[in-house]
Amino acid sequence: CLMCFTTYCQYSHNVFSIINSVQITEKNAEPEKTLLTYLRRNLGLTGTKLGCAEGGCGACTVMVSKYHPHQNRIIHYAVNACLAPLCSLHHCAVTTVEGIGSMASKLHPVQERIAKAHGSQCGFCTPGIVMSMYALLRNNPQPSMHDVQEAFQGNLCRCTGYRPILEGYRSFTKVTTDNGCCMTNEHTQDSTLPAQKLYDQSEFMPLDPTQEIIFPPELMVKQPQRELRFAGERVLWIQPCSLEELLELKATYPNAKLVVGNTEVGIEMKFKNLFYPVILAPAYIPELNIIQNTQDGIQVGASVTLTVLGDVLRAAVKKLPAHQTEVFKAVLEQLRWFAGQQIRNVAAVGGNIMTASPISDLNPVFMAASCKLTVMSKGTTFIFPVQGSKVVAFHDLIQNTEYFSAFKQSPRKEDDIAIVTCGMNVFFKEQSNIVQSIRISYGGMAPVTVLATATCNRLLNRQWNEELLEEACTSLAEEMSLSPSAPGGMVTYRRTLTISLFYKFFLNVQHKLSLDLLKEGVTVEDVRPEYATATELFQLDSPSSVQLYQAVPPGYSDDVVGQPIMHLSALKQATGEAIYCDDIPCYENELHLALVTSTKAHALIKSIDTSDAMAVPGVVAFISAKDIPGSNMTGPVVYDETVFADDKVTCVGHIVGAIVADTQAHAQRAAKAVKISYEELQPVIVTIQDAIANKSFFQPVRSIERGDVAQGFKDSDHILHGEMHIGGQEQFYLETNCTLAVPRGEDGEMELFVSTQSASKTQALVAKALGVSANRVVCRVKRMGGGFGGKESRSTILSTVVAVAAHTVKRPVRCMLDRDEDMLVTGGRHPFFGHYKVGYMNNGRVMALEVTLYSNAGNSLDLSLSVSRALFHMDNSYNIPNIRATGYVCKTNLPSNSAFRGFGGPQGMMIAESWMSDVALSCGLPAEEVRRMNMYKEGDFTPFSQRLDNFTIDRCWEECMQLSDFNKRKDAVEQYNRQHRWTKRGLSIIPTKFGISFTAVFLNQAGALVLVYSDGSVLLTHGGTEMGQGLHTKMVQVASKTLGIPCSKIHITETSTNTVPNTSPTAASASSDLNGMAIYNACQTLLQRLQPYKDKNPKGCWEDWVRIIINFIMFYRTPDLGYDFETNSGRPFNYFSYGVAVSEVEIDCLTGSHKNLHTSIVMDVGKSLNPALDIGQVEGGFMQGLGLFTLEELRYSPDGYLYTRGPGMYKIPAFGDIPIELKVSLLRDAPNEKAIFSSKAVGEPPLFLAASVFYAIKDAITAARAESNLTGPFRLDSPATPERIRNACEDKFTKLVCSNFHC
Ligand SMILES: Cc1cc2nc3c(=O)[nH]c(=O)nc-3n(C[C@H](O)[C@H](O)[C@H](O)COP(=O)(O)OP(=O)(O)OC[C@H]3O[C@@H](n4cnc5c(N)ncnc54)[C@H](O)[C@@H]3O)c2cc1C
Ligand code: FES
Ligand code: FES
Repeated sequence: CLMCFTTYCQYSHNVFSIINSVQITEKNAEPEKTLLTYLRRNLGLTGTKLGCAEGGCGACTVMVSKYHPHQNRIIHYAVNACLAPLCSLHHCAVTTVEGIGSMASKLHPVQERIAKAHGSQCGFCTPGIVMSMYALLRNNPQPSMHDVQEAFQGNLCRCTGYRPILEGYRSFTKVTTDNGCCMTNEHTQDSTLPAQKLYDQSEFMPLDPTQEIIFPPELMVKQPQRELRFAGERVLWIQPCSLEELLELKATYPNAKLVVGNTEVGIEMKFKNLFYPVILAPAYIPELNIIQNTQDGIQVGASVTLTVLGDVLRAAVKKLPAHQTEVFKAVLEQLRWFAGQQIRNVAAVGGNIMTASPISDLNPVFMAASCKLTVMSKGTTFIFPVQGSKVVAFHDLIQNTEYFSAFKQSPRKEDDIAIVTCGMNVFFKEQSNIVQSIRISYGGMAPVTVLATATCNRLLNRQWNEELLEEACTSLAEEMSLSPSAPGGMVTYRRTLTISLFYKFFLNVQHKLSLDLLKEGVTVEDVRPEYATATELFQLDSPSSVQLYQAVPPGYSDDVVGQPIMHLSALKQATGEAIYCDDIPCYENELHLALVTSTKAHALIKSIDTSDAMAVPGVVAFISAKDIPGSNMTGPVVYDETVFADDKVTCVGHIVGAIVADTQAHAQRAAKAVKISYEELQPVIVTIQDAIANKSFFQPVRSIERGDVAQGFKDSDHILHGEMHIGGQEQFYLETNCTLAVPRGEDGEMELFVSTQSASKTQALVAKALGVSANRVVCRVKRMGGGFGGKESRSTILSTVVAVAAHTVKRPVRCMLDRDEDMLVTGGRHPFFGHYKVGYMNNGRVMALEVTLYSNAGNSLDLSLSVSRALFHMDNSYNIPNIRATGYVCKTNLPSNSAFRGFGGPQGMMIAESWMSDVALSCGLPAEEVRRMNMYKEGDFTPFSQRLDNFTIDRCWEECMQLSDFNKRKDAVEQYNRQHRWTKRGLSIIPTKFGISFTAVFLNQAGALVLVYSDGSVLLTHGGTEMGQGLHTKMVQVASKTLGIPCSKIHITETSTNTVPNTSPTAASASSDLNGMAIYNACQTLLQRLQPYKDKNPKGCWEDWVRIIINFIMFYRTPDLGYDFETNSGRPFNYFSYGVAVSEVEIDCLTGSHKNLHTSIVMDVGKSLNPALDIGQVEGGFMQGLGLFTLEELRYSPDGYLYTRGPGMYKIPAFGDIPIELKVSLLRDAPNEKAIFSSKAVGEPPLFLAASVFYAIKDAITAARAESNLTGPFRLDSPATPERIRNACEDKFTKLVCSNFHC
């Protein structure tokens, strides 16, 4: 204690709060402890999840309720428990997902509806989403759809594609059918089947707000009435109750940190290794919470939260004349895109100003509006204009004939930090368009918010017209310069944005001014109609959707296969009762592990100094290579990597060692204190281009060839060359990698609880490291919070480290990686680079193709040779008679890249679509015609000599054209583009053909164990793991149909290596096929054995027959698989899945933002085992593809340091990214004889359909370029980020920046 220097301070107050109606008095509350850790570790309330620890995913959302003394009312608001310090919750009530309902008692409608609407797949995000919705309903029992969308700005889901969540919760809104229809299985023209819903909304429990938990009366206190102090191990937290006290304390502790929302300081302490021993919490000081109108404008206290500020300004906008609220509207516009609701609910105005972030969203507005700050210290007060300095309050002044705009440009619209943000304010001389004063401020262009003073001065006394615009743009191009190596990169784009955003402001003002002056009899030029959309603000439209599937025909209603059964764990997931790896209660003697990783990409380890680390309280051991009893060499296919780096590191994030300590906080603190000295080695190979330059490739280099390529080029009318780069992608499963290793103390036995797709691989590699045989290691997997390939092989490294630690200390050891560690250590989807040469005819028919693909594998081989899937998909769906493709796997100094949904297939197909698009643009033909003309037909052969039987793409294509109303849509797009200069629309139709099977042949096998108990219940176990895809649900359906018993009699408890051994990873979309067949075989054999008992007792029932217990384990192996690259013969795939998508987008040519207006998908999933789950996979896969192709960017420094290590920097699609109109149809009457009950694999194939969005964007850019007379092919790399879109839409503004910047 910093006050009395004891371990537990006698002067420390207790934190008193009420959590889920239970009074909690926490003595010795630790100021460094977050509410999340407290809930999970101290109270065992594990429903609230940890997804990122930085306020970016919403998995930790809970509701806080408190009495607001200034407003004299109780307020309820959603917060991120991962950032909320426990000490900030004194006298608050906290409601977690467990507090609102449970399976054991009664579900809350919010829990029930997300589950029944199929809005929970892996379920890791579900409690957070449930709590965001719950908090919204507590404040507004009948919200609008817009309110619902706003409430979810701070929540992420990686599985569902969001649509089912929104549809389920639409049922709470005022107009439940306000836009589109919910989950309707409509008739298609040729269908005679009855309509059937994916769920029945009439079964939903009603919402009864009167039944909600009441606010505890004992918390109806005005707080604080006295100063509070909470003293912890290292930090003293003081909550003063008056401004005077605060100033006094600040004088006593000059280095004390003020904390209100902790949304900045929390991040600094957790991720930037900053430490503040004294914290002053002024959240409740009355003077700092005031919002009052003064003669000068409105005065806002520094502790006022952004939500409260928004509410007050919205009320003022409603009440006051429009011209008086220009600034308010600009602040509101910035707040609309400021973080998520959970952050805005706690983050304060003062915190934003004082962080003085270069990309603060509010500072540019305050600066442009000439707001004044009041700054105080003991005995002194200053008031001065906002210039990014100290503050306790801000004022603003609104004048007549003043125009104000604020803009924020970020990679993702919702909950993202700005690339460039700005405030612009102009004041005109009376009854004129002559500028009297103007202030333009930018964030994102310098280390602090800056005013464009020179430009503003040059515009004074000028008329607001084209000449002024030209002058302003030229001046801004000069003044807002950045060095080519400016931190944050995107230099050309940022500079272009400063001008483009000013242009938007110019048009805005021109329009408003012309209307205002007209009222006064003065006429000035208005904005040209075709420019009007450039002045419109980005709106989040309410989404609508349609889902179509083939209902089980009448008479077959007892057949569970084909029914849209809810994910069997969905309700548990929605209540927080579903147990994930880190939710397993702690063992009494359990220890926590934190990784020590390399900070160099390529270096020799000279020394490791653990002395500081070992001095951290609670530390038990430092574990490294020397502690491994078996082999340090590991790897899923070849053993070419180490568990712990011994003498050399080959990437930043290479695991060097691990600290084991009593708590996670201690382990992590100690891990940071380990000092490693390195001798750096050259070369450091980061990019594919580096690898090509250094000829750094893994062997073998593979190729596929068919026809006579040279002759094909000779026969072609034209030849074109092109290139494309496709960025990597982080799996971003919401649950990071986690392992709990428990040494059993006998015979070298070790039990592992792991979040992995590969139980058997984990078992094998742990046994190898421990030097024991596999029969001593058991690996158990209950469920994962998402996997997507990322937990197929990379999870084994962490499991091995944890197992070695547990073996060494002889105690249970647990480690759940933090998001930043997970992103750093585990690698993701391979970035690809392709160059191609295409020979084609005048009509667009492609005659010859030569393509070379390079993938960035990282520092070990891992599964990268299987990325040859890219070669198998380099034709996508097109029949190219003469083709040669070569694939290189680049060895680089990045963490090993690994499996991720599609595994190279999407990248191969993406490059195919790039040359297809180039051919269409070169021929000047509609892309859809060229694609259709080149498409395969039934019975054609692929370049790898596999015949295409039951080829359904033609049907998918025709149905998708119809579903999307393609031709009409295309006419409308063309018309729109003729009428609008600065926004353009684009349309694209893209097919996919995806081969199903592991390309490593031996993996195409599975096992199942069916245990029948004497009460008739069945325990089913199979080799697949559940990661949200609904595999267990489908497998129960398969067993139910085969055995002829209801699903309710069948249970799956977990996947484990001591029930079904030697299983393949749950991957390659093949798990339903493989495990389904194994279950089917097991059940069939069981039925055969049962037959004599049935014959003996034909009138008996299942329970009578199974008295004699017969249990079965069966294996299944896909027959006739195997491909030889040498001879180009054999079958790599069991069959193909097909699909087609049409997407329409709108781009903002000035900023590069885009909106997904429409997507129609027709997907062939064979005879669906479960249409609800299959549609979930289609939509979820599509949204992941949308992230891959339009949004997600991993950024590395030239020396291999990953910048994007969490949701703050790395943006996966959010709720607002779903297509405004989404139609998904499962192809009817397309049974597939090659898989269980005629179904087809669905996990990976739909991901690529999001390429339709990318090529729709390219189509829109083509239209924008045409305005500058640019035609023909152009390169657009993936993802199509706002930066790439803007840079490709070349115009007078981009030219201005380039001429000024010599680009
Ligand atoms: C997920 C996430 C998303 C975010 N998104 C955005 C965004 O879109 N736009 C954006 O601009 N920012 C964003 N931020 C940054 C941050 O939320 C804001 O800057 C917020 O306003 C900080 O407020 P706070 O009360 O939480 O600050 P705290 O973390 O409590 O404090 C921040 C700083 O302000 C100082 N401070 C606080 N109050 C006072 C006072 N009264 N007097 C003097 N100093 C004081 C503190 O000492 C500290 O240095 C985001 C943060 C997160 C975690
Ligand atoms: S864990 Fe709190 S927001 Fe992600
Ligand atoms: S269900 Fe949302 S992250 Fe898995």
